[in-house]
Amino acid sequence: MLQSYFPLKHLHLHHTSAPFQRQLRLPGDKSISHRAAILAAIAEGTSTISGFLESEDCLATIAVLQKLGITIKHPEHGVFVIHGRGGFFLEPSGSLDCKNSGTTIRLLAGLLAAQPFSTTLIGDDSLSNRPMRRVMEPLSAMGAILHATGIKANPPLTIQGGRLHPIDYRLPMSSAQVKSAIILAALFTPGTTTIMEPTACRDHTERMLTSFQGSCSYLLDQEERCILSVTGPQKLQACSFHVPGDLSSAAFWIVAAAARPGSKLMLENIGINPTRIGIISILERMGAKISIKTPSCSQIEPCGDITVSGASLKGTVICGKEISNVIDELPILAIAGALAQGVTIIRDAQELRVKETDRITALVHNLRLMGAHVKEYEDGLEIEGGVSLHGTRLPSYGDHRIAMAFSVAGLFACGETIIEGTQCISTSYPDFEEMLDFLTMSRS
Ligand code: S3P
Repeated sequence: MLQSYFPLKHLHLHHTSAPFQRQLRLPGDKSISHRAAILAAIAEGTSTISGFLESEDCLATIAVLQKLGITIKHPEHGVFVIHGRGGFFLEPSGSLDCKNSGTTIRLLAGLLAAQPFSTTLIGDDSLSNRPMRRVMEPLSAMGAILHATGIKANPPLTIQGGRLHPIDYRLPMSSAQVKSAIILAALFTPGTTTIMEPTACRDHTERMLTSFQGSCSYLLDQEERCILSVTGPQKLQACSFHVPGDLSSAAFWIVAAAARPGSKLMLENIGINPTRIGIISILERMGAKISIKTPSCSQIEPCGDITVSGASLKGTVICGKEISNVIDELPILAIAGALAQGVTIIRDAQELRVKETDRITALVHNLRLMGAHVKEYEDGLEIEGGVSLHGTRLPSYGDHRIAMAFSVAGLFACGETIIEGTQCISTSYPDFEEMLDFLTMSRS
């Protein structure tokens, strides 16, 4: 059989001892961009989303919504004009390709569970290995019929949607994708659906509902656990929404600056939602010098300017409730740990094993290839910091955050570091390499 040939893209980095002083603007937040497109598609009327992240993941969401009958215009970079159909979608012909995007498949599963037709969601090799049972269970309990593949319930994911009924659901793991899938289904469901989270995770869907004139509410149970309630059906209304810069993408530059004494970095207009800023307090605990300037007016999605000055870092322990707040930043925090003096321990992070790749295996393997001393746990890793890293060839595992985290590690290593297969970076940060050049100006 003939196979198509895609040349692998590699990233070459040279050790740079030079501190840098730079001011950067970050692309729009990935999680918020997905949600803005989806809520605008559900709403009645025409919404304008600006600051939208034009990465492969978010464009996959746009393409799927178009296949569901939503007209979307793209007048300029970062701006999408979405003509919502008031909660009505068209039955698509053929399957819906979510590419590499877990957020696309899981959030849209919630939306499609409430539509009176059947759809099949597919993805690339990585997505085809990710667990879907976590969305299938609550959506089946609401009355949809879902099928996935094999014992691990992987995509293709087929959904026969229809009239749903409300549920009271306790999330077995902290997952904003699962929580959001249930919220989206609940918007179409008569009655009140409640969701109990084991620990608070990103709340962009909940906040954004207000912008589209929808609502949800929180209450505390007798044991002070937070329960989210969504009463449906709700009619959302179009709005204009601006997506702030992505802190998860900024995290790579924040660590690059924080760990290099003499560096100074200013990042403008970054999302600082409290459910996402765990990385700042963790780095401060490690000795980083970071300040945040916020505008005085309150915003649905808070944002601010972040200034980082380089310092020498020390190891820390990251575990428990802190994990869900920094789930996407753990790869770069592991690199910060390798650059710090002393030991850094990451535990309670078993969710890392079911991301775009098994990120615990990828981190342990690549850090060891660079000469770091690392212990692997089922739910995390332990890094003995302060051991000098050496450049080498490193696989990206097809995972954007592994590729970017090790690009930063390469800046601190002796000799050349080559990251193999960096095309995956465009799933979340298409301009990453350009920014890396801008920051360091020393790469061949
Ligand atoms: C996301 C939630 C997180 C995160 C992912 C984006 C979202 O996944 O890792 O990158 O936008 O809701 P989980 O819901 O699996 O924790």
